[in-house]
Amino acid sequence: MTIKTQYRIMLSSTVLITILITLMFILMKGYSEKQFENRSEETLREYQKAMSEGRLDQFKVDETFMEDIGVNSVVINDEGKIIFSTIPSLVQDDDFFTSIKSFLSKDSPGFRYSIGMISRYMRDFDDDFLFFIREREKQDILSFLGSAKYYILSAFFVLLLLIVIIYSSIIRSIVMSIVKLDNETRNISPFRLDKKITVTGSEEIQSLAHSFNLMRSSIRTANIRRSQFIMGLSHDFKTPLALIKGYAEVMKSGQQGINTGEKNYIEIITSKVDQLEGMMDDLLDFISIDTDARNFSFSKVNLLKWLSYFISRSKSDAQLLGKTITGDIHIEEKKVLSMNDKLVERALDNIVHNALRYTGKNGVVTIIAYEASKDICIAIADNGPGISEEDIPFIFDSFYRGSPSRRTQGMGLGLAVVKSIIDLHGWSISIDSKVGHGTTFQIMIPH
Ligand SMILES: Nc1ncnc2c1ncn2[C@@H]1O[C@H](COP(=O)(O)OP(=O)(O)OP(=O)(O)O)[C@@H](O)[C@H]1O
Ligand SMILES: [Mg+2]
Repeated sequence: MTIKTQYRIMLSSTVLITILITLMFILMKGYSEKQFENRSEETLREYQKAMSEGRLDQFKVDETFMEDIGVNSVVINDEGKIIFSTIPSLVQDDDFFTSIKSFLSKDSPGFRYSIGMISRYMRDFDDDFLFFIREREKQDILSFLGSAKYYILSAFFVLLLLIVIIYSSIIRSIVMSIVKLDNETRNISPFRLDKKITVTGSEEIQSLAHSFNLMRSSIRTANIRRSQFIMGLSHDFKTPLALIKGYAEVMKSGQQGINTGEKNYIEIITSKVDQLEGMMDDLLDFISIDTDARNFSFSKVNLLKWLSYFISRSKSDAQLLGKTITGDIHIEEKKVLSMNDKLVERALDNIVHNALRYTGKNGVVTIIAYEASKDICIAIADNGPGISEEDIPFIFDSFYRGSPSRRTQGMGLGLAVVKSIIDLHGWSISIDSKVGHGTTFQIMIPH
């Protein structure tokens, strides 16, 4: 069903219930017994007033009221003589009790009438009495409407219940499909671009899911094209770079009789070519993780053993640079994780190398691992310069470099690779850094 149809159902049921409520009020108002009593009492008071003021000839019962509910009035004095009547067959000055008897007898047209509402009002009168005589037919209608009122009331509540059920099921179905769509779209990551979004429910939501799917597959195609372009370009760059390096090596070997100054220039050329080649390799690695994610295999790794090895290797790397790495692991001995150990090593390497690279001479890097209730946490902290608040939101973007680092060598790909690897594993990474107070990267692994 479309949301439009569901909306129409809701709208028409609202209109229906409004009509029903209005109808109920009209019926209850127009024909209520209570109203009849109130109006009768009012009339009686008026009669009493007119009588005490001696203007009984002006006294008149409201005709519309009488017509509506078929009320006639007859006034008798304390001798039982009729002194006022709206029924032609009950003639003035006749004895009321005799005439009413024949008036209401089976053979008389007055049979259609019945005496109502007498006792209640008689109590108030010392002298004259006022009788209200109601037409039976109309009285029947009144009592029918009186009982119909309860049917209408129960129908109203049943309908109300039905409408509440319809409303809640419509709203529930819309909300559920939106929530499902939200969850499915959240799961789209660079590595899950081939996963189709499936949603049940309203046609509009399904069509939205279809549009998302079109968008997802066009992003995927664009990604593949971009990767192929970069791979091709890097490959084409590599050949001339290798040749430049080769010629430089030949010149450096001194066969061509070059002087020391020239030798220095050739060395600079060779190192810059190495740098360019390194950058090309980084770029290729980054692209291959981004596009070939599905081709990476996962295996079971003993986390404690693996981390201990990683920390000891990093310690020797740090020693070469004259810096210190300390490790603090609190992981259960048998804890096993499913991961691509080569990629995870690369990710941790990138973070550790950044830490070593950006901290000063007395840089200290600490690697901590512990098990929390829901996650295993691996934190890599340094006492370096920290990262400014403006840079932090972009730090995992490819080719983004923090403002102080732009003058140094690098492409701004290290953390983008880290993020891709972490995402590929379904883990999460966060950063806590303050300028002048060091940086901590925290990897959370659900277990
Ligand atoms: N531990 C750190 N301390 C201070 N700044 C850091 C730290 N780690 C990363 N940064 C900042 O984050 C930026 C992005 O890091 P990233 O590793 O992605 O790129 P890079 O190190 O500049 O270049 P590449 O890694 O490609 O050689 C860096 O330029 C640097 O400004
Ligand atoms: Mg880096």
